[in-house]
Amino acid sequence: MRLLLELLGWDLKLVFSSSQDSERAYFQRKEINSQLVADLVVEASVQRHSSERVASNTCSLSNDGSVNGRGNCLVAGPGPVLKGFQSATGLEMASEFAGEYEHLHPARASYLFYEKGDFSFFHHDVAHAHVTIILGLSQGLLPLILFPSFGPVSENDVKNLNAIEDLKIESFKSEMSTRFGTRAYPYEIEVQEGHAIAIPGRHIPHARPQQSVEASVCTMCYSFLTPEIRWRTLVN
Ligand SMILES: [Fe+2]
Repeated sequence: MRLLLELLGWDLKLVFSSSQDSERAYFQRKEINSQLVADLVVEASVQRHSSERVASNTCSLSNDGSVNGRGNCLVAGPGPVLKGFQSATGLEMASEFAGEYEHLHPARASYLFYEKGDFSFFHHDVAHAHVTIILGLSQGLLPLILFPSFGPVSENDVKNLNAIEDLKIESFKSEMSTRFGTRAYPYEIEVQEGHAIAIPGRHIPHARPQQSVEASVCTMCYSFLTPEIRWRTLVN
């Protein structure tokens, strides 16, 4: 399996869980066709005109144990290029990452624009983001930081998260380590221009530290949920 993925140009990172002694993929990376990336960059610049700023000052804990993060960035919906990418190359990548080819469905897709000082704090992705794909559309993106060892999040954890003020990358990692010890072991993933990464966005909390320069990505979510038949597009 690993050899096959390497032959396909996939960069599969396997990390061994100390608790269960089982291997598990935290992410996969794939270089995307340069013309497709160029088309997405053009579409992003158009969609940016209709973007909206999303901003939240506090983390909160949902009933299912997920954390809604603090954050600041501009969000725009997809155009035909991103929708096409999500249902073709993106779905192929998400399926490969999940090891699931029949029951994974494209969900939300967006363009995210980070201006200087914007960030996305410790959070889980939305409920239908079992697999999240992030494609870098510019240079200057700070690494995405995963916290695979964090485990269940308590209300006290959320208080500690909300007390962290300095979100620049080194001080953010240092504060996380001071407050949460080995639970906050950071697993950093470079997000390069023209490269897509797949992560288990709902399952593993992650963060993008405060950007020191402007940068942009597009994101695509994929869900294992199987829609009822009345919600599906029927094929003859
Ligand atoms: Fe996320």
